[in-house]
Amino acid sequence: RLQTPFTNAPFTDFSKEENKHAQEEAIAQVRSELGQTYPLIIGGKKITGEKTFASVNPSQPNQVIGHFTSATVEQANEAVKVAAETFENWKHVPAEERASYLFAAADLMRQRRFYFNAWMIFEVGKSWVEADGDTAEAIDFLEYYAREMLRLAGDQPVTPLPGEENKLVYIPLGVGAVIPPWNFPNAIMVGMTSASFVAGNTVVLKPASTSPAIAYQFMRLLEEVGLPAGVVNFLTGSGSVVGDTLVDNPRVRYISFTGSRDVGLRIYERASKTPKGQRWLKRTILEMGGKDGIVVDETADLDAAATAIVASAFGFQGQKCSAGSRAIVVEQVYDKVLEKVVEKTKTLTMGDVTQPTTYMGPVVDENAMKKILEYIELGKQEGRLVTGGKHQGPGYFIEPTIFADVAPEARISLEEIFGPVLAFIKAKDFDDALDIANNTEYGLTGSLFSNDEQRLERAGEEFHVGNLYFNRKCTGAMVGGHPFGGFNMSGTDSKAGGPDYLLLFTQAKSISKKK
Ligand code: SER
Repeated sequence: RLQTPFTNAPFTDFSKEENKHAQEEAIAQVRSELGQTYPLIIGGKKITGEKTFASVNPSQPNQVIGHFTSATVEQANEAVKVAAETFENWKHVPAEERASYLFAAADLMRQRRFYFNAWMIFEVGKSWVEADGDTAEAIDFLEYYAREMLRLAGDQPVTPLPGEENKLVYIPLGVGAVIPPWNFPNAIMVGMTSASFVAGNTVVLKPASTSPAIAYQFMRLLEEVGLPAGVVNFLTGSGSVVGDTLVDNPRVRYISFTGSRDVGLRIYERASKTPKGQRWLKRTILEMGGKDGIVVDETADLDAAATAIVASAFGFQGQKCSAGSRAIVVEQVYDKVLEKVVEKTKTLTMGDVTQPTTYMGPVVDENAMKKILEYIELGKQEGRLVTGGKHQGPGYFIEPTIFADVAPEARISLEEIFGPVLAFIKAKDFDDALDIANNTEYGLTGSLFSNDEQRLERAGEEFHVGNLYFNRKCTGAMVGGHPFGGFNMSGTDSKAGGPDYLLLFTQAKSISKKK
């Protein structure tokens, strides 16, 4: 295993009867497990609190996925204390052994692939294909970070100096507060958590309150592979109580967060405080939003561009920080591209995500729905509604929505909506399109569709995003191939799934011995 190079887990082919059947069975299985009550897990102990909150199915909000404990401030601090105590042992466990838990977890997740998919179908309204991509990425992170840790644990290049023996070693940081998002509730949660503990840290994992059931399934899996108690602690509850408490706790060494810009900035600020007795500067690894553009010029393959625009804008209902929520098209081909995109969008199916052919499900919760519908109202003033725009109940369904002729400085052109809303913006020419693409405060992903090599090269230098794609969609970064993370207000450019990522969870120590 250690000798085999990393490769990405293949996606499941649901046109094969056996896979379709396996997914249907897993959906039935998870359906039969809905509505249970789940504890906190602190130091391996399962603690059910008095106060709980429900995670519900956004397709059918009266269906409870599970009841989760609202942790108290004391419990959050207790989790940090236990993690800090566990760190004293865990930091001495050799890297090979730490990595072996990730390999074992990857094996088990491969076996439970359809089961994990099914939890996401119910808890966050993913389509089969989106859920399956999410689980594939979770497996990839486990396989990738295990290997990365082994690489970091090996000899590091240092310049030889006469009369000295020198080495550079990567040691862990301490206790990490890991606060992942609900939109890749398996992949990103698994990636942030496993990177943390494979590097020798211990973790308090606070899952998003709209997707705790999936995180709990991962906790079960970690227990089954024998990860020692206390290495990963599971703490559910509200961000304002549990999240802030973790961020403020002086024994927390770093915070790894993926989510909205507003919460990211709040964490950044709070983490900068150094209360008396805190012996370090807290490190923050923050992955936040995006307002990602797809630029199309007159030399492009317009059909391919239209297909990519639709997939980037409406995959998982546009609820990706990587979503292509702006199509920036040069005048010459603007009408044609718009027409093609609208036509393709009208063929998208929306509804019951337990069915294999449904493309779009609901948005994640009522607050998200309200916010998106407000942006749609705003869009009616800022642009021309060409398709969609309506809510369809009883779940939180919103039609894939396109506004044409949106000004580059309009709010729906600059602000992250995190829903199925696409703004079409007309550019005079390629130069203008590139300027518009760079006009937001974000800098996460972007695509350029062009067959002009010089323009591709220029975009490589000037299109200021962490993940730039040519002639393909701007979502769906692959672990290893497309290290992921953005510039400016998109975050700290952590490059998840890349060779720099584990460095963020370690500190380097130089040891020099006189011969
Ligand atoms: N990594 C995901 C993508 O590329 C977003 O988090 O779509």
